[in-house]
Amino acid sequence: MFERSRGGENALLIQPYAPGENDESVLEEFAELARSAGARVVGRLTARLERPNPALLIGSGKAEEAEAMCEATGADLVLVNHPLSPVQERNLERLLKRRVVDRTGLILDIFAQRARSHEGKLQVELAQLKHVATRLVRGWTHLERQRGGAIGLRGPGETQLETDRRLLAKRVDQLQRRLEKVEVQHAQMRRARVRNEVPRVALVGYTNAGKSTLFNALTGAVAYAADQLFATLDPTVRRLPDLDCGPVTLADTVGFIRDLPHDLVAAFRSTLAEAREADLLLHVVDAADPDRDLRITQVQQVLDEIGAGELPQLMVYNKIDRLEDFAARADRDEEGQVDRVWLSAMQGEGLDLLRGAIGERFAEQRIHRWVRLSPLAGRLRARLFAAGAVRAERSDDEGWQLELDLPRRLAEQLCADPDRQAAALREQLLDAPADLADA
Ligand code: GTP
Repeated sequence: MFERSRGGENALLIQPYAPGENDESVLEEFAELARSAGARVVGRLTARLERPNPALLIGSGKAEEAEAMCEATGADLVLVNHPLSPVQERNLERLLKRRVVDRTGLILDIFAQRARSHEGKLQVELAQLKHVATRLVRGWTHLERQRGGAIGLRGPGETQLETDRRLLAKRVDQLQRRLEKVEVQHAQMRRARVRNEVPRVALVGYTNAGKSTLFNALTGAVAYAADQLFATLDPTVRRLPDLDCGPVTLADTVGFIRDLPHDLVAAFRSTLAEAREADLLLHVVDAADPDRDLRITQVQQVLDEIGAGELPQLMVYNKIDRLEDFAARADRDEEGQVDRVWLSAMQGEGLDLLRGAIGERFAEQRIHRWVRLSPLAGRLRARLFAAGAVRAERSDDEGWQLELDLPRRLAEQLCADPDRQAAALREQLLDAPADLADA
């Protein structure tokens, strides 16, 4: 029922391009995607789009050329690197006498093969059903219009379509409800982590940059890494050991890719939430990729799109073993903060530099100082103790003096209450210059 390309299929790639935009790397990336789905690329064809043809997308001359090429190369599948309307897809299939899959269909197919968690699988099935549903509905109205209600052409066919649509709607509804439940559970898990004030780091980066490999190297976990695009579809969250700053969690996320279809971004929103809600993003870059700067921009675009564009980033240039004469190193910005680490996740070189940089980021965000609480601040004092923020305490007639050591974010949270005690604490803890308040 789905547009699934099965492994071992021979694919002809068609790359439509607007005049003046014929870019080799776009086609190369598409070929990479096709291989990720398990297809063998047997031919490539570029098609200049002067005016997109509503019936076929590409010109009919080009379509004939494609058919000849399919015959010559033995292609049994045609992949088009452009969204196709259901009508275009059907017309092309008829003309080429082969299955035609567009970019969204291909990415969905890869997602379907890669999804590992329950949530990921639900997300994929839902996205696929929605993709199919629009096609069914539109295909049906299209047929209806074309046939003009001719007697003998309606009836069983339409009834079948009606049934299909009803079944689809039911399944979509069921999946949506299940997914909502799982999403609620995950949101609760994320909130629990916020409450525990464990800083969260998320790996982001262009697909195949080496995120999973780095995730494994840093956490000692055996997760899945493969030289295929999108090997990671589900976020995996683990504790990051061996840091100076105390516990931090690390989340692996789905690989980004240019022009990720919008509805897919929406479909995978909970997977991407790990990135959106992180305190620090490790933006992993394949240092040996000739297009690495372009990739960085493309990842930044997706981050902007999911509302994570403004989060602090630490750039990680991975795969330095593939650069000549290159040793692991950490670069600092003008303020002295590490903003770039060069390493090899595979060979384990430079991991200590990255750990150090992460530790520094979060260590800087701790506050350590003495504060005074009035005798009326008993509740606040109890909360400080409960949060593990108190190192030492003295009491006298005017209340308590506490030596606090806590993450800045926790301090902000504890000071956020709209009462006078919290405001007084805020003044001493967050507003006062460090050298005055630190006794
Ligand atoms: P997606 O899940 O597709 O987003 O990929 P990813 O970013 O998680 O990449 P992954 O860790 O799966 O690695 C992709 C490929 O790069 C694998 O073949 C890795 O073995 C390889 N790789 C990762 N790190 C390094 C490295 O430091 N050096 C070299 N030479 N190869 C690496």
